[in-house]
Amino acid sequence: MKIAIIGKGNVGKALGHGLRRTGHEVRYGHRDPKEPVREAAEWGDVIILAVPYRATKDAAEEIGSAADGKVLIDVTNALDQNGKFAAGFTTSAAEELQKLLPKTRVVKAFNTCSLETRALEEWVKSNSQRSLPATIRYRSK
Ligand SMILES: NC(=O)c1ccc[n+]([C@@H]2O[C@H](COP(=O)([O-])OP(=O)(O)OC[C@H]3O[C@@H](n4cnc5c(N)ncnc54)[C@H](OP(=O)(O)O)[C@@H]3O)[C@@H](O)[C@H]2O)c1
Repeated sequence: MKIAIIGKGNVGKALGHGLRRTGHEVRYGHRDPKEPVREAAEWGDVIILAVPYRATKDAAEEIGSAADGKVLIDVTNALDQNGKFAAGFTTSAAEELQKLLPKTRVVKAFNTCSLETRALEEWVKSNSQRSLPATIRYRSK
């Protein structure tokens, strides 16, 4: 499967490494003009959003219609620069993201897998062949 990862930081790289090890194709999009967000999003069958929470709106705007009809896996945590909760209590960050990308199927996943313990990469390595396509099939119905 072709998986576009938006955000090439700690989490994006760990996910990309794990997904490549299980045979998926990975392309990155971030603020580097050599790896544009829009181009990666157009290329991917599935998109993973792995940017800081404060950058989700900008990234979503750049992804735009390239994500129409696709599954977008949102791995962000709604935290500000000081690690404080940055969303409200009447909605969720994923629901707000879904509003920005109304024709996309937004799925929240991986955000509770700890990077520090390498659980994120290991989880992908051991589960992606089973769970990732299953999640996508479910959300694509
Ligand atoms: N720490 C954990 O264990 C953990 C686990 C799961 C999820 N998370 C969540 O995963 C997300 C990413 O965390 P991280 O540690 O990987 O952050 P990070 O190392 O700071 O990397 C963030 C990446 O996002 C890119 N970026 C920033 N603004 C962007 C924009 N407007 N458009 C496109 N790309 C943009 C950066 O771009 P440049 O490369 O151009 O600078 C960088 O590549 C956060 O929301 C975090 O809460 C964290």
